Amino acid sequence: MLKILRSKRSAFKHRGFIPLSTPEFGKYEWRYLKECLDSKWVSSAGPFVNRFEKEVADYTGRKFAVAMMNGTSALHMALLVAGILPGEEVLVPALTFIAPANAVRYVGAWPVFIDVESNFFQMDVYKAVEFLEKGCVWRRGSLYNKATRRKVKAILPVHLLGHPVNMAPLKKAAKKYHLVLIEDAAESLGAEYQNRKVGDLGDIACLSFNGNKIITTGGGGILLTDHQRWAERAKYLSTQARDCAEEFIHNEIGYNYRLTNIQAAMGCAQMRLLARHVAQKRAIAHRYTQGLKCLECLEVMREAPWAVSTFWLYAIRIGRRNPRFNARKLKENLRRHQVESRLLWKPLNRLPLYRTSQAYKVEMADQLYQETLCLPCSVGLGENQQQQIIKMIVSA
Ligand SMILES: Cc1ncc(COP(=O)(O)O)c(C=O)c1O
Repeated sequence: MLKILRSKRSAFKHRGFIPLSTPEFGKYEWRYLKECLDSKWVSSAGPFVNRFEKEVADYTGRKFAVAMMNGTSALHMALLVAGILPGEEVLVPALTFIAPANAVRYVGAWPVFIDVESNFFQMDVYKAVEFLEKGCVWRRGSLYNKATRRKVKAILPVHLLGHPVNMAPLKKAAKKYHLVLIEDAAESLGAEYQNRKVGDLGDIACLSFNGNKIITTGGGGILLTDHQRWAERAKYLSTQARDCAEEFIHNEIGYNYRLTNIQAAMGCAQMRLLARHVAQKRAIAHRYTQGLKCLECLEVMREAPWAVSTFWLYAIRIGRRNPRFNARKLKENLRRHQVESRLLWKPLNRLPLYRTSQAYKVEMADQLYQETLCLPCSVGLGENQQQQIIKMIVSA
């Protein structure tokens, strides 16, 4: 009896809880997963892997896609095949999830952290270009960081929270200084920059299909490029660098990074929902903007005129003038009402493990970290639930 009462109570509690972001599934996930089980193609090869790669390549406008077990492994592979070497440097935004910086370290290179801008929370491309022009020197066909004397080899912008980075100045600088442009589009599949999909804006790009992304394979990632040699090498290295499968001949150290057929089956089903998910995320963003723009103490999320954002996460920025109303206090208040929200990442240059990496004029990242809160925005978030959240914020 006690057990029944307890489980009823927790079910009731759970019903009222509004999570930050949960995945959404349709009927094809079940159908495709059953196909995998029936055919016994469950592991890291199979028809769904090839199909998923082709569908994502076609959607983003890329020639080649190589599916990986997550976005982080795709980033590691991208840096490897693009030829980033130990001791070289890669420009990374200071405000992002840690994966791109860690991937730079996996290949033995170093991140140089660049500030973000306050309008769209993206890498400050003008500071990045300024760093390349003033903080570096061109010598014998390569660019060197004046402060560290290391060779600067790549720029790794991250399209944060579903919004694209302003890529044109980065493309121009990358061309001028012979740098590889690697897009981390993990959070922004479906977003567009000047009518082109993210993932198609640099030399190579990576996506994530983690459970909190706009579409999910449970865990998964993909590498996108137009360079056939890079795509072939990524496939080779991510399947244990197998030179002869029958005789188990390996001439290089490889990785077991490939996506399974089961995960790819989920991916194919989710691709059918992508356009709808983007539209629903945008509708959620629109409702938040309409409901919250009246509050003087906060800034709603914006979209650049050259962008189509997916609003993967909806973020509000709360000034610190009012001591009773700030991002952390609002988070706590929402939590008390069973509403989950999330702060942004601590700027990476503030983490002890990256304290020896250079941070170039990082100021705004600190402010945004203090002042920003991400609100619930699951594709399946009901309008009533959302109005409830808006009311809570307005009356906080
Ligand atoms: C910006 C960014 N890059 C990379 C990743 C890594 O992706 P995964 O979790 O699939 O390894 C994530 C998050 O999940 C991310 O937000």
